Amino acid sequence: MPHEMPDASPMDAYWMPFTANRQFKRAPRLLVKASGMHYWSDDGRQILDGVAGLWCVNAGHARPKIVQAIQQQAAEMDFAPPFQMAHPKAFELADALTRLMPAGLNRVFFTNSGSESVETALKIALAYHRARGDGTRTRLIGRERGYHGVNFGGISVGGIVGNRKVFGPMLGGVDHLRHTHDPARNAYSVGQPAHGADLADDLERLVALHDASTIAAVIVEPVAGSTGVLVPPTGYLQRLRQICDKHGILLIFDEVITGFGRTGQAFAAHTFGVTPDLMTVAKGLTNGCVPMGAVIARQAIHDTFMSGPEHLIEFPHGYTYSAHPLACAAGLGTLATYADEGLLTRAGELQGYFAESLHTLRGAPHVIDIRNIGLVGGIELASIPGEPGKRAFNVFLDCFERGLLVRTTGDTIALSPPLIIERAQIDQIVGTIADALKRTA
Ligand SMILES: Cc1ncc(COP(=O)(O)O)c(C=O)c1O
Repeated sequence: MPHEMPDASPMDAYWMPFTANRQFKRAPRLLVKASGMHYWSDDGRQILDGVAGLWCVNAGHARPKIVQAIQQQAAEMDFAPPFQMAHPKAFELADALTRLMPAGLNRVFFTNSGSESVETALKIALAYHRARGDGTRTRLIGRERGYHGVNFGGISVGGIVGNRKVFGPMLGGVDHLRHTHDPARNAYSVGQPAHGADLADDLERLVALHDASTIAAVIVEPVAGSTGVLVPPTGYLQRLRQICDKHGILLIFDEVITGFGRTGQAFAAHTFGVTPDLMTVAKGLTNGCVPMGAVIARQAIHDTFMSGPEHLIEFPHGYTYSAHPLACAAGLGTLATYADEGLLTRAGELQGYFAESLHTLRGAPHVIDIRNIGLVGGIELASIPGEPGKRAFNVFLDCFERGLLVRTTGDTIALSPPLIIERAQIDQIVGTIADALKRTA
């Protein structure tokens, strides 16, 4: 290796994730403080948080119960080994979490991120079938445009080409359902689109191709977030559930974004009335304050592992930081805050107002579709020819200059504000975007 030059600037060392590093470092956007619905930038400007940080700060920033829980835990016990040992808050949080779940999902495996939750769920699915003596079920089915984090399992079942194409062959034995985006029939749907339940039948095509006896699980985001907010067509998830049941295939819902009140009820499984066999969560579990994720399994799946000699480890999987004490404390503080303030149903109360506001952008310059459910919104713009993503990014920069944080994926502006948002702040978000669209070429 040639000897590298010493760093030329204090910003050089940090290789930023999912960021245009050189562009960013020429004109950095730094956040230095957060409280409630707002961030503050390093030049002292107040920024309204239109995306709950990164779809995670559902209770708003710097909430006292969460802050105190973390501070207290750090002073009391910093770390406890999670293998063959435990600490009380891990059990407390797992129990509290299952109380929020749809009936039947009641065994919790902790991880440290959404990506790790996905890997864990895929491994549980494979090992479950093998434990049942059904070890030919090794195939995993994802969906085009799906996002399931960035680890190898997640990008293998994921369907966003930019996150896959430079990383080689990935996991073998993976196939994908068609995505559900159908702007020709569903553009400007308010809530769930009417057309497309039949797209779930694509699973029957894959069963016909591979045979059900080779398929372990199907993983989907109930609402696809990172690909640009795709709300499931009415009846689609029900149909997927039926086809999975018919063929003995496990259904995994990746609720990393949709969990913890985002779609109007505690989980998208409640909102859409479909219960998966395994659910992945992260983000809102600790309000984004300490990294943590989890997989919640049906009891029967868990119990299948609980056979064989009792001194043996049933599932050879886990992380040094699984059920980290600070994360468990943050999780308990977070769930208490959600309960105290009724936040897990607040998106349901506000979604009418949010939808109405958002859809006033129909007809604004460049807008070609608007999608919404609960407190999630997507505003899709026509791309600048030959420069996909640039127009929405320009809107993002304009909004940030004017005190609003949004997120862009491709040419879709994505919104997922903290669930404590007030109506006037919804007006501010929509007004700022409307002005930015007028200024954007
Ligand atoms: C549906 C979904 N799954 C998994 C992930 C990955 O989570 P993390 O970034 O915590 O690894 C995300 C992140 O946005 C997500 O939206």
